[in-house]
Amino acid sequence: MKKQFAFIVLSMLMASPSIAADRSGEAVYKAVCATCHAAGLMNAPKLGDKAAWKPRIAQGMPKLYEHALKGIRMMPAKGTCTNCSDKEIKNAVDYLVSKAK
Ligand code: HEC
Repeated sequence: MKKQFAFIVLSMLMASPSIAADRSGEAVYKAVCATCHAAGLMNAPKLGDKAAWKPRIAQGMPKLYEHALKGIRMMPAKGTCTNCSDKEIKNAVDYLVSKAK
């Protein structure tokens, strides 16, 4: 009986959108980050702007992830996307960085 219950709960969890597959970096970028990072709003480093990204990338990926997740100066935590998973934010950072190389 207990086992069956656990199975039902598990299948409900699997069907729930809250743990659906993480969105790709490009999808998250377009939905959230582009607001600032496409036009360079408030001096946000622009997508594909190698010069702007170079010193930021030089900090290392762990720092970039941390700043994207927790925010830094005018960069809001998670780019204000409170319902984005940490993995989705990291995907978006990877996307931004991949375009600046
Ligand atoms: C409200 C505008 C805004 C949004 C939305 C936004 N950013 Fe930013 N972001 C900024 C600004 C401004 C900076 C520059 C901060 C600074 O260095 O002063 C920045 C900097 C960054 C940096 C560099 C941090 C560093 O250590 O130099 C990363 C990485 C980043 N953003 C990722 C993202 C990602 C990923 C998203 C989407 C999930 C996002 N941003 C959404 C404004 C924004």
